[in-house]
Amino acid sequence: MCGIFGIINDKNNQAAQTVLEGLKKLEYRGYDSWGISIIPQNQKEIQVDKHIGKIGEAKTNLPKGLIALGHTRWATHGGVTDNNAHPHLDCTKKIAVIHNGVVENYQEIKVELLQKGHKFISETDTEVIAHLIEEKSKSKKINEAIFETFKLLRGSNAIAVLDYNSQTIIACRNGSPLVVGLGQNQYFLASDVPAFLKETNKVYFLNDGEGVILSNSGAKLYDIDSEKEKILTPQILDWKLEDAEKGGYPHFLLKEIYEQLKTIPKTTSINEKEINILAEKINSGYKVVLTGCGTASYCALATKYFFAEQGIDVAVIPSYEFMPFSKFINNKTLVFAISQSGETADTLIAVKQAKKRGAEIVAVINARGSTLERLSNVVLSVGAGPEIAVVSTKAFTSQLSTLYLLTTAVANKYEEGKEKIINLNKVLTKWLNNQLTSQLIMLAKKLMNEEHIYLIGKHINYPATLEFALKIKETSYVHAEPFAAGELKHGVITLIQKGTPCFVLASNDDVRDEVLSSASEIKARGGLIIGVAPFESNEFDVLIKTPDLEDLTIFANIIVGQLLGYYLGVGRGADPDKPRNLAKSVTVK
Ligand code: M6R
Repeated sequence: MCGIFGIINDKNNQAAQTVLEGLKKLEYRGYDSWGISIIPQNQKEIQVDKHIGKIGEAKTNLPKGLIALGHTRWATHGGVTDNNAHPHLDCTKKIAVIHNGVVENYQEIKVELLQKGHKFISETDTEVIAHLIEEKSKSKKINEAIFETFKLLRGSNAIAVLDYNSQTIIACRNGSPLVVGLGQNQYFLASDVPAFLKETNKVYFLNDGEGVILSNSGAKLYDIDSEKEKILTPQILDWKLEDAEKGGYPHFLLKEIYEQLKTIPKTTSINEKEINILAEKINSGYKVVLTGCGTASYCALATKYFFAEQGIDVAVIPSYEFMPFSKFINNKTLVFAISQSGETADTLIAVKQAKKRGAEIVAVINARGSTLERLSNVVLSVGAGPEIAVVSTKAFTSQLSTLYLLTTAVANKYEEGKEKIINLNKVLTKWLNNQLTSQLIMLAKKLMNEEHIYLIGKHINYPATLEFALKIKETSYVHAEPFAAGELKHGVITLIQKGTPCFVLASNDDVRDEVLSSASEIKARGGLIIGVAPFESNEFDVLIKTPDLEDLTIFANIIVGQLLGYYLGVGRGADPDKPRNLAKSVTVK
């Protein structure tokens, strides 16, 4: 996935600087390289500035101008080099193209263009788009040339084109997100709203098959197939500028961890109607399948335990393993697709397959206007606001809280569920204090040079260990391996040596003694036992005490993993907001 940002009519005539600042807000979408193209005043061709590496502190010397278009790249085709960074120019330097996606047939297009004499500078699939548009624009209007080019590209793609002659930005979408921002006499195109939120919250999310032309008189929407104009109906988002700023925190990750104190309780005031309708359906015999990737799949697994508490058996299928099991899906299945971004390719593929089998799709999502939202019959929008850090935190707890409420609604205990979430929040607010932070910083220092950490948990604390471990791995690059406590004696115990750190996640539930007995088996082999639990025990060498929240204790147990991952990452010199090799949402298969 990549970040796209363009502006028309920059109010300060500094379009390149505006795009640079906006791209910094999208860096979470890709940080292998960045680049900006501009139509400079009084010059005859487009100018480009592009470099490998993060955009973080970057500056650009591009000249003044009203129109610019830029990109942050997460590399797919072609290595991470200056030449492969976007934008890519055509031979005349009048057309600059940026792109999010993979052009599956780019090789065959390239061969034809080479035969026609086009010169290529990069190894990317994207560059063929610029030359193909150039070729077609010899006999057609630029918008026709772009729409026709786009129709020839195979795969899921979004493109944005800066055209010198018409002084426009023209974009097309099929599978990768694009949003138009309508400011006061300034118009924006981006892959996500934070890029222009400072200027406007009046937006239009493009659907697949739609194109847009931005000129100094505004935005015009098109159906790409028919090339006919459509009515563009914007919406006003309730996002505020602070949502996309660090707000005094050193990193977005830390800000978003603390924001959970607002985002978790917010889930009790949204979706009630939809949740009750879904609960009725489940009680009338619909089978539930939960799917997602990464953190979202751990949310699915935790929800399975919550459903089981209410006497309902549901299936969890990680989206990337969906196909063999899709034959068990039919028109009496509710598929809950969990996703922060709503753009994860594996999740979308699973959902499309489930739809083919007649299932009803419920999207449990955070980002608005996504592909998943459009594919779904019902949307449970979890309302956590923009999640900028690549590592997911607040979106996860909001998804889990939303789905927890659903499980209580199924048992006719929705009001009780709401009370429990509100109480959870009160307790978390007291507990998340400086004393806890100091304890976690000390623990992070102690673990700083460890290369292997193990985690165990049982029942509802098992998915908690998966999420806890992922936070440690993503943020600090320490190898953290989670196990169901019961698995330990079946082989894993060989990994324990003197001093091996082992986290034991527990709640005050009916399996706490079993977990403690697994802990004692590790301890007997010399392991260092770090308890994350609401009680003390002789088995723990160190205890991070979490509040006793019954079945909701896992929220606190997981927050310990989020914070510890953060402090370990900072201590080990990693960038907590942008872990190496990762993108915020994985829009390729
Ligand atoms: O946007 P999604 O929730 O669909 O993304 C799914 C995963 O890619 C995501 O949760 C990933 O595992 C994160 N890096 C977790 O922090």
